[in-house]
Amino acid sequence: MRVVVASQRLDEVPGDAVVAGLYAGEKKLPGGLARLDRAAGGQVGRVLEAEQFKAKVGQVTHVHADGRRIVVAGLGPRAETTAETLRRAAAAGVRRARDLGARAVAAEVLGDRLPARQRAQAVVEGALLGAYGFERYRREKAERVVATLTVVEPDARHARDVAEGVHRGETFANATALARDLVNTPAKDLGPSDLARAAVRLARERKLTVRVHGRAECRRLGMGAFLGVAAGSAEPPRFIHLIYSPAGRPGGRSAGRARKRVVVIGKGITFDSGGLDLKTSEGMLRMKYDMAGAAAVLGVMGALPILRPPVEVHGLIAATENMPSGSATRPGDVLRAMNGTTIEVGNTDAEGRLTLADALCYAVRRVEPDEIVDVATLTGACVIALGPLCGGLMANDAGLASRLLRAAEAAGEPFWQLPLIDEYKEHLKSEIADLNNVGPRGGGAITAGLFLKEFAGATPWAHLDVAGPAFTEKDLPLAPKGATGVAVRTLLTYLTAE
Ligand code: BES
Ligand code: MN
Ligand code: ZN
Repeated sequence: MRVVVASQRLDEVPGDAVVAGLYAGEKKLPGGLARLDRAAGGQVGRVLEAEQFKAKVGQVTHVHADGRRIVVAGLGPRAETTAETLRRAAAAGVRRARDLGARAVAAEVLGDRLPARQRAQAVVEGALLGAYGFERYRREKAERVVATLTVVEPDARHARDVAEGVHRGETFANATALARDLVNTPAKDLGPSDLARAAVRLARERKLTVRVHGRAECRRLGMGAFLGVAAGSAEPPRFIHLIYSPAGRPGGRSAGRARKRVVVIGKGITFDSGGLDLKTSEGMLRMKYDMAGAAAVLGVMGALPILRPPVEVHGLIAATENMPSGSATRPGDVLRAMNGTTIEVGNTDAEGRLTLADALCYAVRRVEPDEIVDVATLTGACVIALGPLCGGLMANDAGLASRLLRAAEAAGEPFWQLPLIDEYKEHLKSEIADLNNVGPRGGGAITAGLFLKEFAGATPWAHLDVAGPAFTEKDLPLAPKGATGVAVRTLLTYLTAE
């Protein structure tokens, strides 16, 4: 979908459909809608009246007039306007226009309660995310698609803010769509090498620095935990390191404009069979999605050169499958991570933390960042605790945790902090090694967090467990069934915050 900005009145923009907002419980039609109504001889008002349209968030109705569709998108009560209500209204409005066959859609900068820039971003995010579809494997592609979205702002004083918001919204949504595409792609077509190729292509397109380490280099680096997970797979592992630097090239902070250096790590298990501790068929079915953290990192890294924040950002992905075979790591084996910590493999299905352990070691030792954030579809326990719509956040640093929670709130991606209870560390005791990779069932998300914490050392670190929200089994306001691209917009909001 192409997105453009027009400084015209809503009733004057050309197009097959116009989307206009309406707050709940307000009798008088607002400016944009009032003009459309007049041009349509009062049809809009009559339909709203006849349907008893309530203008709840996400509720839409439409009228045909002069060969165009006029789509009315409910915004909910004015006083409760948030970026998220505007995203949902835009998504529902543009989807309705699309389903009615419109290819050129014009939309208002919905609402009037937030700054124009923020509203414009929300409208474009909602429109693009709501209209997302994954068609790669279908012979018959969707016929009804919106080709152009024209964001209309009649007030010239807001033109610049709106243009900025639109650009940001487009960048955020496209980054999310990239993550969704990668996650939706079956594991057969997206193994560790494919993920690495996607990273290299992204780096070339967006002028990022990229390094990819193969098995031999990872062995040289001492990544025994990561390689232990990769041991059972016919697909060779790949360790991916991407760098965005505001100065154009990575290096010392003194030389560049970077205010700080942040590492984002994404869990990159391209398929999680469980390994020798094999999952059930039901448990395995969705496990192509076990690289959703990695996909989020690629989405974020690709967007940074467009958004140009004054922060140096390193994206790390330890990519591998987790497969059973004669060469696979056995339950009871002991692995040695890059920092020398030995780990008894209590369960080969707790593989994510093993790969992340070495990525964390690499971050601390090789990148020396100010902060680390990892994103991982890490535990079923987190899904039990928080359900499918909310991610878990754990951190060794209260400031980082609260800044991330604030960014998540602004992005409309729910996260809830879980406590890293020190006493639970005893759940990770091993009879023969420094750590065991599993504990008892209760508090499994926290145990996993505590395991990771051991490898972050003194560096401020936060962990986002997205096992729940990374994939949706039903259509959501901003995502059809399938991958959601969760954490991309939270991280971009965080990394571009003042
Ligand atoms: N990728 C899974 C996490 C997961 C499990 C996500 C179920 C969604 C649904 C992870 O690698 C895993 O298998 N975790 C185990 C850990 C256990 C063996 C301690 C889990 O959560 O069951
Ligand atoms: Mn697993
Ligand atoms: Zn996994």
